[in-house]
Amino acid sequence: MTGDQIIIFDTTLRDGEQSPGCSMNTREKLEVANALVELGVDVIEAGFPIASPGDFEAVQKIAQRFGDRSTICALARSLDADIARAKEALADAAKRRIHVFLATSAIHREHKLKMDKQQIIDRAISSVLDAKSFCDDIEFSPEDAARTELDFLCEVVEKVIEAGATTVNIPDTVGYATPNHYFKVISYLKKNVPNIEKAIISTHCHNDLGLAVANSLSAIEAGARQVECTINGLGERAGNAALEEVVMALRTRADFYGVHTNIKTERLVPTSQLVSSITGMKVQRNKAIVGQNAFAHEAGIHQHGILQERSTYEIMRAEDVGYVGQNLVLGKHSGRHAFRDRVKELGFQLDEDVLQKAFSDFIALADKKKEVYDSDIIALIDNRITDAPARWKLISFHTSAGTSAVPTATIELQCEDQPIVCDAAIGDGPIDAVFKALERVMDVSARLEEFSVRSISEGKDALGEVRVKIDVMGRHYVGKSVSTDIIAASAGAYLQALNKADADRQFGGSSSEERIPAKSP
Ligand code: KIV
Ligand code: ZN
Repeated sequence: MTGDQIIIFDTTLRDGEQSPGCSMNTREKLEVANALVELGVDVIEAGFPIASPGDFEAVQKIAQRFGDRSTICALARSLDADIARAKEALADAAKRRIHVFLATSAIHREHKLKMDKQQIIDRAISSVLDAKSFCDDIEFSPEDAARTELDFLCEVVEKVIEAGATTVNIPDTVGYATPNHYFKVISYLKKNVPNIEKAIISTHCHNDLGLAVANSLSAIEAGARQVECTINGLGERAGNAALEEVVMALRTRADFYGVHTNIKTERLVPTSQLVSSITGMKVQRNKAIVGQNAFAHEAGIHQHGILQERSTYEIMRAEDVGYVGQNLVLGKHSGRHAFRDRVKELGFQLDEDVLQKAFSDFIALADKKKEVYDSDIIALIDNRITDAPARWKLISFHTSAGTSAVPTATIELQCEDQPIVCDAAIGDGPIDAVFKALERVMDVSARLEEFSVRSISEGKDALGEVRVKIDVMGRHYVGKSVSTDIIAASAGAYLQALNKADADRQFGGSSSEERIPAKSP
């Protein structure tokens, strides 16, 4: 690494997963990890192994599968048990890092930890030494650093570097910092910690005041060389700094920052879409870089300018972030080869069986719909990628509804290779009736928490994407499906969510947001 490279440390799978409603199961985490590796992320914080058996399993599997391509990091409090669990989870990774944290601010010392300054320093040193016995690459975070007395922060940072920390992360845990303030904190550390050159300074900014990206950039100006961030800015409360925004700010303003990252920027939009699909957390339309409107020009004057010369109103090219508009691509008569080429051009590397299934979906869609757009193809692929193997399959459904009819749904479902079960239910509308019928057959009682329908492309025959979030006995599950028929998409999405609940019931798995809070240090 050279002095002008910024290390991108992605914490979507750890801090991001702590966003309410954003829990992922191990299979989903592996998919996100794969996308992060393809994106070119340097360090993947895969989870907090002590937090739950599900977290442990996910970190272990990610370490096994991707630990030779990106550095896999596990979080631990400054506690022996946490560090031991992190070591165990990371054992199979060739490139591994333990991230130890301990709060340092007066508020946390007094009210949470009930420890004095010397106790904090002693604990921080001993946990770094403990972690160091397992691997060289150790990160230490003085939690709530942005509200910690500067001289004490310097002392802690100096001592942990002396003990072997190779990265010192300066978290703005509560999103309290402002750009100028944070610049001063990093500059102060650079000036007053005698051994600071032996470690990389990292930023970890929360977005409570909407300043996480600005603060991270400010820290880079002051000399930080690692940024902790998440896809779509997911994270505790208002989230963390959005990876895509930090990366594109550094790239677009390379003239100013003079640094670069290893991120393959054309993977940003597909990765954002994958994370959004898996977590069920929608990206706001006007979100910078990855929002649907991020490259849309509405005003005539802007459109005119763009047609004359793109740079009049565009500082980035949509294709550089992997944004795909409404391009008309393929039709009913396009063959398998054309489909395969287009999928590749759109940045997907699919296993042969997923590609074949997506191709069949495409043919079925092209039969119903005159024009198939890139966005349709992406939705079909996304649907296949996020469609996990599940016990229950929908064989058929029929609904009847109207102003003078009681909305009714009849469904046929099959559980693995058992006989097909047929049942019916009434509801407030045809979709509600389908949901009730699915619950009856699968013997699950769920509460619908969120339901949304989005049109993937234009026209009356457009594909519709339905997302649902349900609550089953206090656990949350998301489902998503696409179809030109909204009732079919709703049934598919609801069934996907119910299947996740069913998997938990069967195997006691972690498809939901189950977390075991461990005790504080
Ligand atoms: O926000 C925070 O302080 C954290 C630490 C664990 C780094 O997430
Ligand atoms: Zn955080």
